[in-house]
Amino acid sequence: MPGSFHGRLFPQNTIHLVHSSYSLHWLSQVPKGLVAESDLPLNKGNIYIAKTSPPSVHEAYLTQFQKDFTNFLSMRSQEIVDCGSLVLTFICKNDEEDGCDFWELLGITMNDMVIEGLIAEDKLAKFNLPLYAPSIKEIKQIIGKGGSFKLLHLETFKLKRDSNMAEKEEATLFDEKSRAAYIAGNMRAVQEPILVEHFGEEIMDELFERYGKKAIEYMKNYGKGIINNVVISLSKTN
Ligand SMILES: C[S@@+](CC[C@H](N)C(=O)[O-])C[C@H]1O[C@@H](n2cnc3c(N)ncnc32)[C@H](O)[C@@H]1O
Repeated sequence: MPGSFHGRLFPQNTIHLVHSSYSLHWLSQVPKGLVAESDLPLNKGNIYIAKTSPPSVHEAYLTQFQKDFTNFLSMRSQEIVDCGSLVLTFICKNDEEDGCDFWELLGITMNDMVIEGLIAEDKLAKFNLPLYAPSIKEIKQIIGKGGSFKLLHLETFKLKRDSNMAEKEEATLFDEKSRAAYIAGNMRAVQEPILVEHFGEEIMDELFERYGKKAIEYMKNYGKGIINNVVISLSKTN
């Protein structure tokens, strides 16, 4: 569909089924509260909610997601006919304490590059990703508050960062270098344009090479690297 799903896309009362796949974790903008009024970056050294982020960072992200998801449901409720349906798949949190470790890991990789003088400290301090992985509780609260849709079904599922590799070259599945390149390539395909805009093209090869290696080590050492996902189906209330 041409246009942003944060705004109106279809005429009033015309659509029977809307399906959105793997997109709703994208926010309409970087949350505003991440830079304090004193121009002090609150999420220094991170690019998403990380273990070292203060609670105000999580609050800023949650507030933006609440705004965006509420707005998304309101826009679609105007377009969908009575009793029409919404089926949505997107990234979520495992529980309230969970972050999204692969976004956090990209931030850690960039922070290493700050320490080595390859990225300017203040550049990283002022950059944050416009993404948010909500918890199931947060999703349910927003749907309940909006009132235009009834939640019919909710399921969660987990994917490993390199799970798609099995469909590709089976011979390379256990080769660390190939896995690192695959994971880094995946992340790069999604994040590179937004990173280039802020940090420039020059650091991208180095960043994603480091990221791939770090991701493999991380998955090996801590058994991590899982993406939590949610699928929900909703029906428009009359
Ligand atoms: C990971 S891709 C998923 C693509 C496809 N739906 C699928 O499931 O394979 C995320 C998509 O979300 C789109 N996207 C992100 N924010 C959007 C917005 N505000 N309005 C419309 N599309 C958006 C991006 O352009 C990108 O194509």
